[in-house]
Amino acid sequence: MSPERIIPIFRPSYGEKEKQAVWETMDSGWVGLGPKTEKFEKAFAEKVGAKYAIGLNSCTAALDLALKANDITGGEVIVPALTFVSTGLAPLYNNNKVVFADIDEKTLCIDWEDVKRKITPNTKAVIPVWYSGRVVQPPELGVTVIEDCAHATGNPEAGKHTACWSFHAVKNLATADGGMITTNDEEVYKKLLPMRWCGIDKSTWERAQKKYGWDYSIDSIGTKTHMNDLTASIGLVQLERLEEMNNTRIMWVMLYNHNLKNVDWLKLPEFDENSSNHMYVVRIKAEVRERFIDYMLAHGISVGVHYKPLNTYEIFPQTELPVTDRVWKTLVTLPLFPDLTNEDFYHVIKTILAFKC
Ligand SMILES: Cc1ncc(COP(=O)(O)O)c(C=O)c1O
Repeated sequence: MSPERIIPIFRPSYGEKEKQAVWETMDSGWVGLGPKTEKFEKAFAEKVGAKYAIGLNSCTAALDLALKANDITGGEVIVPALTFVSTGLAPLYNNNKVVFADIDEKTLCIDWEDVKRKITPNTKAVIPVWYSGRVVQPPELGVTVIEDCAHATGNPEAGKHTACWSFHAVKNLATADGGMITTNDEEVYKKLLPMRWCGIDKSTWERAQKKYGWDYSIDSIGTKTHMNDLTASIGLVQLERLEEMNNTRIMWVMLYNHNLKNVDWLKLPEFDENSSNHMYVVRIKAEVRERFIDYMLAHGISVGVHYKPLNTYEIFPQTELPVTDRVWKTLVTLPLFPDLTNEDFYHVIKTILAFKC
């Protein structure tokens, strides 16, 4: 392997179909919010088993708008700290206090027992993160649950509540950037349509179909966060390929677990048959992690940490979280993506096996 080439942690899987879809949308003369977005929304809602889907430009926007549409403001929102910053930003965008709950040591998802302890009369919502694509359903809590499904596209257990999805460049279904909210609540759906498009009651596509409808209604303060037809056309192809791509992820996860099972200084993730396997996260002694990361990079392999928890950043409360605070220091994400090659995979394995821990 040439030393200049680095095996990445993530990589989207694109082929001729995605390229063709982008060309067709360009040739159609309409690349904005329009019929391809609508088609993708319908297909995605069906895949999740939800009544409605609203295409957006990111999961960050989805989390923000899902809170707005559910009137989650002026209270407390419980989130895990082991997540990307957007999960914690959405409550702040909506004038809420962030309350961190700890994670479960095994699944790395939110610990529902700790959530129960942290619910107060001011709690407006909980946002569980399906870490790495593994779903741990909530017990009955009596508060709104908004799922952060950024990692979970393709997991049949994800999206039972109002749910926020990411189609960011490295996600299981990647459209460069993009997001979606799925919901069964018609009222929430109706609020979201103008909310993603500056508060305007009709999309430009609808208005362009007959005499150009320049006179529209603006009845609420919206954002400019809708999806567009170029990314939706990539999304339609990726959705068709999702099962095949996620099955390939399962194959790599099984091969990782098999080939690394005798490495006594690594703790491997437990296989979960429904997981969408967005990441392959192993655990190593905290004192060794930095040396391991540098060693892998020196052998042309990029490995990462997901995540430095949000309670370590000053914009968030510095809550003590015994499991999160201890476990995050041991996490290492190894390369996992559908188009990983045999040669690269076995280079990763051989390199790990040769590490002097
Ligand atoms: C758990 C989680 N939530 C939310 C997001 C935000 O997604 P997006 O990049 O689509 O805004 C991400 C993206 O990395 C994520 O991993």
